[in-house]
Amino acid sequence: MYPVELAKGIYWVGAVDWNIRSFHGPALSTHRGTTYNAYLILDEHPTLVDTVWGPFTEVLMRNVTKVIDPAKLEYVVANHVETDHSGALPAIMAAAPSAKVVCSQRGRDGLRKHYFGDWHYQVVKTGDSISIGRRTLSFVEAPMLHWPDSMFTYLVEDQILMPNDAFGQHIATGFRFDDQVRMDEVMEEAQKYYANILTPFSPLVARKLEEVAKMGIPIKMIAPSHGIIWRQNPGHIVDAYAKWARPGGDRSCVILFDTMWGATRRMAEEIGQGIVDAGADVKILRASATDTNDIIAEVHKAKGLVAGAPTVNRGMLVHVAKVLDELVGLRPAGKVAAAFGSYGWSGEAPPEIEEKLRKIGAEIVAEPLKVKWVPDDTEIQSCREWGRRIGEAVLRE
Ligand code: FEO
Repeated sequence: MYPVELAKGIYWVGAVDWNIRSFHGPALSTHRGTTYNAYLILDEHPTLVDTVWGPFTEVLMRNVTKVIDPAKLEYVVANHVETDHSGALPAIMAAAPSAKVVCSQRGRDGLRKHYFGDWHYQVVKTGDSISIGRRTLSFVEAPMLHWPDSMFTYLVEDQILMPNDAFGQHIATGFRFDDQVRMDEVMEEAQKYYANILTPFSPLVARKLEEVAKMGIPIKMIAPSHGIIWRQNPGHIVDAYAKWARPGGDRSCVILFDTMWGATRRMAEEIGQGIVDAGADVKILRASATDTNDIIAEVHKAKGLVAGAPTVNRGMLVHVAKVLDELVGLRPAGKVAAAFGSYGWSGEAPPEIEEKLRKIGAEIVAEPLKVKWVPDDTEIQSCREWGRRIGEAVLRE
């Protein structure tokens, strides 16, 4: 089955992790697993681009060994320090101690502080290139996409871009290429990946895409470090990134809520009806019942974000706070937002939610909506009217 040849003499030698369900420790759900992609280039100076997460070291070594004796590696490009790509580096360097580790300056600093290896480093920056024989590797630094050390490697003659995490997706598949798998699943995972990891760096993504476009380098294939390889239509994921990096979202609204005895849920449903009446689509997601990373992906897609919770202990229910705190860190740009919730006697949750929405950077388009205990017919009408206003704001250009 493996390795898989991308082009003559260039092999995928990575690992498929079918059953990982949370990444970055518990921080990111991966319902469809992932892959750790590493690429072996046979040339006068055999080169490995990236490795795999430590527990998959044996898989990498086995795949490399099927093509070449690992001791013959002369270059190991480390596009990114994070351990899902560098975890097997100590084993590779033990097998090929004379190989040069090619990385950015911050990459070298990071690798030294992770592995403490006495390795030969070759630090590169944007515009640098290395001849490995018939082929040339050229490098583009990509700081904060998504770590300070990140960089892209471009195979000049083969026109293959290896951008590490960028354009990746957490999805385990039997096949390795975009023309062999279900593209709807791949794009769903690509956007979830973008929403949960790259959102804070969207202005940098947009600038990097422009920079690469200005370089005028032809790209026949994009081989990221997670998920499938884009060989049929690499422009598809580049265009998607350009769209996802823009502020705002589509003509829809996420209603994020939680409820104790159903009153705030009733408000959410009536607000949702008002949004739909205005002509915008809606998704109503209960924070305690929906995966946080899936909620964040939905928020990324939508222009509107309405959040509601009942008041408990002078604050909001904890699950709503957790999702909002994640969004404060990610700061998805260009959202319109508002807060709501039912209460019994003090009612602090809606203003507290509004404060978090402001921290996200959202434009608040309606005052907090509060209902004491259970909404009556008049209050249900108010929820619908309030929702209609949100819907109109979502549809505003
Ligand atoms: Fe896939 Fe930033 O590691």
